[in-house]
Amino acid sequence: MLILSIETSCDETAVSLIEATGEFPDATYHILGNALWSQVDAHAEYGGVFPALAKREHGRTLVPMLQQALEESDLLESHATDLSDTDQTKLQTLLTREDGLADALIEFCAQYSLPKIDLIAVTSGPGLEPALWVGVSFAKALAHITGANVIPTNHMEGHILASIYDVERDDMLSDISFPASALLISGGHTELINISNWGTYDKIGQTRDDAVGEAFDKVARLLGLPYPGGPQISKLAADARKRELTEFTPLPRPMLTSGDLDFSFSGLKTAVRYAVQDRELSDDEKSAIARDFEDAVAETLLKKTSAAVADTGAQTLIVGGGVSANQFIKRAFEAHFLTEFPDCTVYFPSPSLATDNSIMIALAGHARATGALSPGGAEGIRADGNKSL
Ligand code: KG4
Ligand code: ZN
Repeated sequence: MLILSIETSCDETAVSLIEATGEFPDATYHILGNALWSQVDAHAEYGGVFPALAKREHGRTLVPMLQQALEESDLLESHATDLSDTDQTKLQTLLTREDGLADALIEFCAQYSLPKIDLIAVTSGPGLEPALWVGVSFAKALAHITGANVIPTNHMEGHILASIYDVERDDMLSDISFPASALLISGGHTELINISNWGTYDKIGQTRDDAVGEAFDKVARLLGLPYPGGPQISKLAADARKRELTEFTPLPRPMLTSGDLDFSFSGLKTAVRYAVQDRELSDDEKSAIARDFEDAVAETLLKKTSAAVADTGAQTLIVGGGVSANQFIKRAFEAHFLTEFPDCTVYFPSPSLATDNSIMIALAGHARATGALSPGGAEGIRADGNKSL
């Protein structure tokens, strides 16, 4: 089954082509082409993602990403697509809100054709709704051209599947024992999920304010570091640990005694703000604060997740979302679980699949399609910024 997948929920515009053999979860996946355009430079001056700009950038880059993914796959056919006037009008209607995208797609079709695609998987939520709509409308337009089915997918389910995608073992999903716990940590989400079986999710904890990735980004901004802050903070923190810099300031471990599985990160960010305000920080001080902050985050995530695993008796822990790219957090979890929960297998994504990408959307689309293919065609599919698992 040839899957074309599209991700536009935030500030990454991504298109992939994947050949899936077999049924979920026992399939093998062969990545044919994987194109990703990161908008971080465009958003850097705003210190975070600016939704109207994200929407515009997706519209501008989707066709080039489609072309790149097809070229990488050796599936770009250099002859024009047969589009009638009615087809062109239909594409203009489907993409009417996406400035210039219909024209770009029609221009692409004047030169190239698409291969036979079995399934188009697209993120329909959660995320920034104007950004999601660009991908959803583009998927509908491609469905009109190719006749393929569109499967709306959940971005967070994508993160879960990306974390258990075993790049080394013939591109299969790992064998998972249930119940499993998932810790999803990204720019918009911080949540603990109990997974009793494939596709059966129960949210058992979540942040009451900022997401953990958002806290990384805000603290980075306080330190004068560029967006996205996670990788920047983590680099400085590693340097501070290597040089054993002394603690800059004691920071709280929020909600550890709350008796539930919820998180809160805005107080931690405010504590950093108070500690640094009206001060000219040296480079060493910045590194020390980055380390103090990362320590506080790692300890908080670890303790709450351990409580979730103890409560649910989880045999598997899946950590996913952009913050799971953090190698310090990963090592802390792996070391702790090895001694405290030796029977619970811990999964983190391979680094290239931790932050947003469209491979994870292909996996989620395939999981849904080979389970129960939603009938009714592409027309009714909507973007939903708050879509839950
Ligand atoms: O999943 P993702 O790519 O996008 C959303 O769905 O939100 O996550 C992005 C978040 C950003 O807040 C970014 O700062 C954070 O992931 N991030 C990291 C690291 N790499 C990305 N946070 C901590 N350490 C990292 N190495
Ligand atoms: Zn994400």
